[in-house]
Amino acid sequence: MVQIAPSMLSADFLNLGKDVDMVNSCADLFHLDIMDGTFVPNISYGFPVVEAIASMAKIPMDAHLMIVHPEKYVKRFADAGVRMLSFHLEAVENPAPVIDMIKDCGMVPGLAINPDIPVEKLYPYISSCGYLLIMSVFAGFGGQKFIEDTYSRVKSLKAEIVRHGADCLIEVDGGVSPKNSAALAEAGADILVAGSSVFRSSDPAAVVSAMRLLR
Ligand code: DX5
Ligand code: ZN
Repeated sequence: MVQIAPSMLSADFLNLGKDVDMVNSCADLFHLDIMDGTFVPNISYGFPVVEAIASMAKIPMDAHLMIVHPEKYVKRFADAGVRMLSFHLEAVENPAPVIDMIKDCGMVPGLAINPDIPVEKLYPYISSCGYLLIMSVFAGFGGQKFIEDTYSRVKSLKAEIVRHGADCLIEVDGGVSPKNSAALAEAGADILVAGSSVFRSSDPAAVVSAMRLLR
C-alpha cells in the first residue's frame, strides 16, 4: 500500500492546528516544502512553522528542501524533529556528503530531481538513500498540472532499485490526486505527496483514503 504525505504548503495557515489534526488522523507523513527563493522562484515557510507542526505531529515529518546549500540546515531540521529529509541533486555539486550528514543526524536521506533531469542521474544513489523523490511538476509551487511522463520515470527507477535489490522507496510529488494515484502505485511509487487535491477537498480524509487505495 502506498503512503500518503499531504503537503502542508496547501494547508490553511490561519487554522494550521486543525489541518495538522486532520493529517494526523488520516495520513502517513507530513510533507514540508522548504523553498528559498533562489533554487526555486518562490519562498515558502521556515523553522517556526516546521516547529509548530512538530509540536502536534503524531506521524513522521518528511521535509523537502528546495534550497541551495542544503548542508547548512541539515542539523536544524533534525533538531526540529524531522524524520525524512530530501534535497535536490541539482542544488549541490556532490550529494554524497550531504546524504552522509543526514544519516549522521539520525534522519532518512532522500534525493530529489525535477522533471527535466534524467532519472538515470539518481541511480548512483539508490543504495545510499532511503528514498528518491521524482518531481511530477517543476518544484516551486503547489497546484500545478501533473506531468504524464512521470509514470515511465517511476517505472525505470523502480526496475533499477529492484535490480540493485535495494531497500529504497520512490516518492512522487506534484499534481498527485485520486486520478493518477493508482497508476503511480502501479508504476512503483511508494509515497505520494499531495497538496491541493487533499486540502482543496471538502473531505480531505476521503481523498487520502482513495489515494491509498483503501478498501
Ligand atoms: C512543489 C512542492 C509540492 C507541492 C505539491 O514544489 O514540492 O510538494 O506542494 O502540491 P500539489 O499536490 O498541489 O501539486
Ligand atoms: Zn514537495
